[in-house]
Amino acid sequence: MRIGIIGCGAITRFRHAPECESNPNIEISGFFDLFEDRAAELAGRYGGKVYKNYEDMLKDDDVDGVIVCTSNATHAEVTVKSLKAGKHVLCEKPLATTVEDGIAMDKAAAEAGKLLMIAQNQRMDLAHKKAKEIISSGELGKVIFFKTEFSHSGPENWGIDKTKNTWFFNKNAAILGAMGDLGVHKIDLMRWMLEDEFVKISAIVGALDKKTSDGEPISVDDNAICLMETSRGIVGTVTASWSNYGAVDNSNVIYCENGVIKIGATPEYGVEVTKKNGEKILYKLPEQTRSGIVDAFSDAVENGMKSPISAGDAVKTLKVIFAALEASKSGSRITIQY
Ligand SMILES: NC(=O)c1ccc[n+]([C@@H]2O[C@H](COP(=O)([O-])OP(=O)(O)OC[C@H]3O[C@@H](n4cnc5c(N)ncnc54)[C@H](O)[C@@H]3O)[C@@H](O)[C@H]2O)c1
Repeated sequence: MRIGIIGCGAITRFRHAPECESNPNIEISGFFDLFEDRAAELAGRYGGKVYKNYEDMLKDDDVDGVIVCTSNATHAEVTVKSLKAGKHVLCEKPLATTVEDGIAMDKAAAEAGKLLMIAQNQRMDLAHKKAKEIISSGELGKVIFFKTEFSHSGPENWGIDKTKNTWFFNKNAAILGAMGDLGVHKIDLMRWMLEDEFVKISAIVGALDKKTSDGEPISVDDNAICLMETSRGIVGTVTASWSNYGAVDNSNVIYCENGVIKIGATPEYGVEVTKKNGEKILYKLPEQTRSGIVDAFSDAVENGMKSPISAGDAVKTLKVIFAALEASKSGSRITIQY
């Protein structure tokens, strides 16, 4: 499969370009970024063309699929144009910044007969897969409660622009803050792992910490805590924070009738189960050197499979995020409609 990459920032540099290069079924056709030097640098390192605009990439018959790695507010437009141009698309999370745009992306994929996958890569994590397998086996009984968290020191320490002027802090470009950046991963993960949908939510989502260069609070949220309930009555908390100035926390704890599953609690063991009778089972998992998201995209396209993570699926996660924002603003508990 021949792939073009739109947006040449951190996620392309750290994940997608190296994972494309090391996949024997993928050839990189080229790169586009609003800053040409960023595209040129990656083309120099990984091969392929430097496109003057992404429309040129979409017209190129040497491109079968594109990876959309631009700022949040542009995902929908770039994705829909790419699908209409007959390209398969792997689009970064959050898939879109409105539910309507997410639905339009799903529709555009169906109409074009092309595969659209959303890069919710937490589903590819071996520890998460193992935990899902344990839950699905029923050996620990029903899930009762969970805690899940994703927190780090903020996108000004991650993105290609390492300043307070990063687009991640700009409402027009990001639309969503920590909730859409990190919360999106954990909500998606829990929906997938529990095989259930969130139906009720209360939350506090706010700009508590980060400041613009003028010393004003940023215009998107930087911290969020949500209290959630699924359709089967599983209750839990989702925490997303850009104010964790210590080690990244990407952990999950699942309390079941007959034991507790801890994921990512220790570096040595991916998953730790403590049964009700005290028995402890430690799962040492193979070292994971790639996210696997590009591999899953390419496999699905090559084998004519349906999207491993469709836009229709990701829209349900987006609905939960908007419900969290509404719950926080109104100070009330919200029922989520699907
Ligand atoms: N799946 C994950 O774990 C994960 C991790 C990090 C980022 N992301 C997502 O990836 C996307 C990019 O994040 P990043 O960390 O690489 O940001 P970044 O700021 O490091 O890079 C974004 C790049 O996109 C370019 N860009 C913006 N709009 C563009 C457009 N319309 N056309 C072409 N280029 C454009 C910018 O010039 C910049 O070079 C975001 O949506 C983010 O949420 C996902």
